[in-house]
Amino acid sequence: MDNRPIGVFDSGLGGLTGVRELRRQLPGEDIVYFGDTGRVPYGSRSHETILQYARQDIAFLLSRNVKCIMAACGTVSSTYPTEEAARLPVPYMGVVNAAARRAARATRSRKIGVIGTSATIRSHSYELTLRRLVPGAEITAKACPLFVSLVENGYVDGAPPQMQQVTRLVIGQYLEEVRAAGIDTLILGCTHYPLLAGMIGDYMGPGVTLIDPGRAAADDLGQLLSSKGLRANRQQGQTHFFVSDVPDSFIQTADLFLGEYRGGTAEQICIDQY
Ligand code: DGL
Repeated sequence: MDNRPIGVFDSGLGGLTGVRELRRQLPGEDIVYFGDTGRVPYGSRSHETILQYARQDIAFLLSRNVKCIMAACGTVSSTYPTEEAARLPVPYMGVVNAAARRAARATRSRKIGVIGTSATIRSHSYELTLRRLVPGAEITAKACPLFVSLVENGYVDGAPPQMQQVTRLVIGQYLEEVRAAGIDTLILGCTHYPLLAGMIGDYMGPGVTLIDPGRAAADDLGQLLSSKGLRANRQQGQTHFFVSDVPDSFIQTADLFLGEYRGGTAEQICIDQY
């Protein structure tokens, strides 16, 4: 038993989709969330910059005495090296392995699609992992950079019809070749994409299973904590939010990602100190 918090970080607010899953699956756990809102987006940056940012984000969470770390960000999970993660003083989990395992279980045809930020697709993280898990897999990968801006501006499932129309147009533009590849499983490899799952599902059709990496990682993290005897023994945990820009935009947008969030505070920190 361990009542220290779970540390979760992301380039910004998108990682709150992962927090939403953790809260649902592990309600007794305290969570410390860091969103690097001052330096978002990561997905269009170089490998070196993403790595440096990830190291600082992890150092901040470690300073908060977390018992494990979840990188909710698809871009960080695709960039931060496994060997370095293994040397951290607490267990670390990204979203790539968890999502790839779900996709491997879901596919029947071995034709799998992956969408994510430019950095995620450029890293080939999902392809490398999927090829180990699914011999002979045919993988179609596509960067969809506009999806992040659409989501952050509210062009999500359930938005007014004209807004959804814009999103559906972009979805058609990006996913035409992915659909034409005849995949039966699609990994939504970026924190923001689960908020478009309804419209992406409509476009891909009912025969395609969508994989939400945040949900998969939250599930795996629960199992990891149980296997290591690190679960908290309380009924209801709390979540503490930290950001690197002024908290105003966090408070305005957080509910979109978190669902349950009803206002409250986020504390600004200087990430350059870590
Ligand atoms: N959180 C990022 C990811 O999941 C998306 C936003 C960004 O580019 O920083 O890849």
